Amino acid sequence: MKLTIIGNGNMALALIAGLYKKYELEVVGRDMNKLKAISDTYENITITQITHDFDINGKNIILCVKPYSLQAVKKNLSGVANTLFSILAGTTIATLKDAIASQSYIRVMPNISAIYGSSMTTLTGDLNAKDLSIDIFDSVGNTLWLDSENELDIATAIAGSGPAYLALIAEAMADGGVKAGLKRADSKAIVAGLFGGFGDLIKHIEPSNIKEQVMSPSGTTACGVASLEEANIRSAFIKAVESAYHRALELGKK
Ligand SMILES: NC(=O)c1ccc[n+]([C@@H]2O[C@H](COP(=O)([O-])OP(=O)(O)OC[C@H]3O[C@@H](n4cnc5c(N)ncnc54)[C@H](OP(=O)(O)O)[C@@H]3O)[C@@H](O)[C@H]2O)c1
Repeated sequence: MKLTIIGNGNMALALIAGLYKKYELEVVGRDMNKLKAISDTYENITITQITHDFDINGKNIILCVKPYSLQAVKKNLSGVANTLFSILAGTTIATLKDAIASQSYIRVMPNISAIYGSSMTTLTGDLNAKDLSIDIFDSVGNTLWLDSENELDIATAIAGSGPAYLALIAEAMADGGVKAGLKRADSKAIVAGLFGGFGDLIKHIEPSNIKEQVMSPSGTTACGVASLEEANIRSAFIKAVESAYHRALELGKK
């Protein structure tokens, strides 16, 4: 099956890294040099510079531009797509329908881990394209179908933005190691190993159980956890998800 990706930025590149193994890809963008860099990296990818009347008729399109670029992109498209998969944060199916004609519409929220085939991708939209969309995005990691766009906006605030939150934690923990006296390279390697292992742990064990298993009476972890609680870490994360969700809603209104 052929997929047409519109946009060639960070997220498009992350998706291409997984999708090209299973699908015939056409990547459409405005900058021929950036497009050429993609076709030089991956065999069998067609590149097209977007011009007026780019024909999307019958195509399965993955739209990978910023929400504010939708109006500019729509001017260059003609025809009716088969399915429009949009990864645009906050942009509703109603807005997509106004902009781009398609038989079916799916909103998709992958994350940057797609580049290593381990995205946590949520999806919602027309049920007739549900199986197809799960099949496509399973090739870049895990998928979860959600029942509403509102839930997808909340998921955006967790899994779409989440790599940035976790990157902050990783950076701060490495800094903590350096402050306590570790060499930076060692501290970073330890944090990277921690995150890798934690991915397996969290798939099988509830977070509260993990904490209880590690936290022994009057131990090192108990002291560390108490410091995090003093800094209101839980409240900070709840607020982070809430404000990212509100931002997704705002983007949807534009
Ligand atoms: N980054 C993430 O972690 C992430 C996660 C989930 C969802 N998303 C969503 O993914 C979308 C893209 O984000 P990104 O981080 O990949 O952004 P990005 O790196 O800025 O990429 C945007 C791409 O859109 C292209 N573009 C802009 N206007 C265009 C036009 N008129 N015609 C054709 N192409 C056009 C840009 O082309 P040029 O290269 O020529 O500038 C660029 O390749 C956003 O809607 C965001 O909400 C991002």
